[in-house]
Amino acid sequence: MTDHATPSAKQTAETDALDARHSWHPFTQMREYLANPRVHIVRGEGCSLVDSEGREYLDGTASLWTNVHGHNHPELNAAIIDQLGRVAHTTLLGFNHPPAAALAEKLAGLTGGALPRSFYTDNGSCAVEVALKLSLQYRQLAGEAQRTGIIAMENAYHGDTFGTMSVGDNGVFHGRFKPWFFACDRFPAPDYCEFDGRVVRDRSADSLAALERLLTQKGASTSCLILEPGIQGAAGMLLQPPGFVKAVAQLCRRHGVHLILDEVFTGFGRTGDLLVCHREGVTPDILVLAKGLTAGYLPLAATLCTEAIYEKFLGAQDEWRALYHGHTFTGNPLACAVALKSLELLRPLVESGELRRKAALFGKLVAEHFENHPCVSEIRQRGFVAAIALKPARPGETWAVNDRTGYRVSLAARKHGLLIRPLGDTVLLVPPPAMSDDELRRLCAGTLAAMNEVLS
Ligand SMILES: Cc1ncc(COP(=O)(O)O)c(C=O)c1O
Repeated sequence: MTDHATPSAKQTAETDALDARHSWHPFTQMREYLANPRVHIVRGEGCSLVDSEGREYLDGTASLWTNVHGHNHPELNAAIIDQLGRVAHTTLLGFNHPPAAALAEKLAGLTGGALPRSFYTDNGSCAVEVALKLSLQYRQLAGEAQRTGIIAMENAYHGDTFGTMSVGDNGVFHGRFKPWFFACDRFPAPDYCEFDGRVVRDRSADSLAALERLLTQKGASTSCLILEPGIQGAAGMLLQPPGFVKAVAQLCRRHGVHLILDEVFTGFGRTGDLLVCHREGVTPDILVLAKGLTAGYLPLAATLCTEAIYEKFLGAQDEWRALYHGHTFTGNPLACAVALKSLELLRPLVESGELRRKAALFGKLVAEHFENHPCVSEIRQRGFVAAIALKPARPGETWAVNDRTGYRVSLAARKHGLLIRPLGDTVLLVPPPAMSDDELRRLCAGTLAAMNEVLS
């Protein structure tokens, strides 16, 4: 890797001082952040990131679950540069631009034309807000105003805005804002675990039975059900068995409830398929996409829906049926251009089975490195997603939150050339699908070495 962009020691010291004095990082206890050595990423190439001191790290979080093809990819860069030479931003409020239209057509194609309409936003939370509004407003426009309810699953995470926190279920992240949430009915998540293609536990029937009871009771007054299909990411990579999404979809259909699938995390190669709804053979009423949509290059999200939903929003101006929602950078042309190129690159990787092959290898590597480790209480893995839950080796011993075991493992991993981020004492590995076999091996070996250092 060339090092032409490595800043001087003085520049790095300046960046560090500015960061310490002025920045406030997301999901971060700043006191802890400032008490530890800070990493300033100055460039990336492939699945590696380089810091201001020239140290190279594997991107074990795919830059927070977004990166698909690696960093600084020449074809993705070229797509952005080409669009930049035309126009960087122009509004979609009452106007259009070619990349937005072309991408909407490609996204419709991903659903076999079943969801032909794309409403753009610029992050996953806002795209979920749009999904909820589409369903709720549709009910009013369709003469079904009694359908006001929303159902979500236990442990759900759909973002950090108030609407998405209301349908979410994470006390640590959002509990203090609960008094301001709107009502949401909840059904239990399936208690299911697998790694390396091996089922460890499956109590999903209880979850489906509870959902059926809830729908029998409240289905007629429910507008929509929102679900992260296959994997609940932010909850700690909690899995659902194959067929679970399909069973939920069938129950929703039976009760006339819109199914919203939030594939913000699971979409675009994360599980080895392009979308989980492909793997499950399910067409939702509304589909939410973000993160990997632009291969992790620029902020863009899309909420796709059926023509039947879209048509209900049509009418004369004084009927006030239009969706009054929009964001300044909705459908940014640079982001749409890179999303188009990413899809073009991704399709052959999925269709040839290459992503599934690599995901299976990742499963084998995870099992090889972490199964039977005395400090591992559970492994959950599917596709390019692994959660390794840690525990003290000695029976009866516990770790306090402030021991920060998972965090200390992630700090130790830096010395092994890895950037990873834990969730409490669970180590999460979420590599870009572009990682090579050898890099996946290094990711697992380095994580194990860091774990052994901290836990021995
Ligand atoms: C399933 C899911 N939905 C929604 C979001 C929110 O997306 P964003 O962070 O872009 O607002 C996330 C973020 O991790 C997510 O995992």
